Amino acid sequence: MLEDIRKILLHESTILSRLDEMAHEIADAYRGKDVTVISVLNGSFIFVADLLRRVPLPLQVDCLSVSSYHGTKTTGTVTFRQTDLASFQDRHVLLIDDILDSGHTLHAIGERLSERGALSIRTCVLLRKQVTREREISADYVGFDIPNEFVVGYGLDYMEKYRNLPFVGVLTDDAIARGRVEA
Ligand code: IMP
Ligand code: MG
Repeated sequence: MLEDIRKILLHESTILSRLDEMAHEIADAYRGKDVTVISVLNGSFIFVADLLRRVPLPLQVDCLSVSSYHGTKTTGTVTFRQTDLASFQDRHVLLIDDILDSGHTLHAIGERLSERGALSIRTCVLLRKQVTREREISADYVGFDIPNEFVVGYGLDYMEKYRNLPFVGVLTDDAIARGRVEA
């Protein structure tokens, strides 16, 4: 698997020390409040697991499964694989995703959640890509700003592979081409 990586953008140690800072910020913001964290699957599972274990608050955690990407391109249509969402009456919602790219995903989820009685809805992403967003959406908590490159690892996939890499990296052209052939 490592031979498919052209370069490492964020090493595991870099990610984890940034998570310490983010967890502090989140704990300070939500101390004493009723919070439901929503993990946007599949991409955020590693980020959420590492981040939330650093937040010493009694959080509720729920998951939402969506997809919008095909290969290395966003499709612009967000598909919800799960439709039954809890009510967030009198709770603060923190939506966590792996990456903010075009903005379609967080925009679509935000719309779904906004009518469920949440006291507030904030978003948190590990990565924010430097692109012109197709949807006007900003993230409240951001791990790292990265250039407009397709990345994998630490939860992010290419054709459902490479999520288990412990770092965030960029694939070789050869690995990308191989993925297209196999698809
Ligand atoms: P958006 O809807 O375009 O903002 O993209 C968000 C979703 O697309 C993320 O949750 C990821 O699953 C996927 N995505 C966007 N950029 C990348 C990338 O560079 N690598 C892997 N997945 C990505
Ligand atoms: Mg994905």
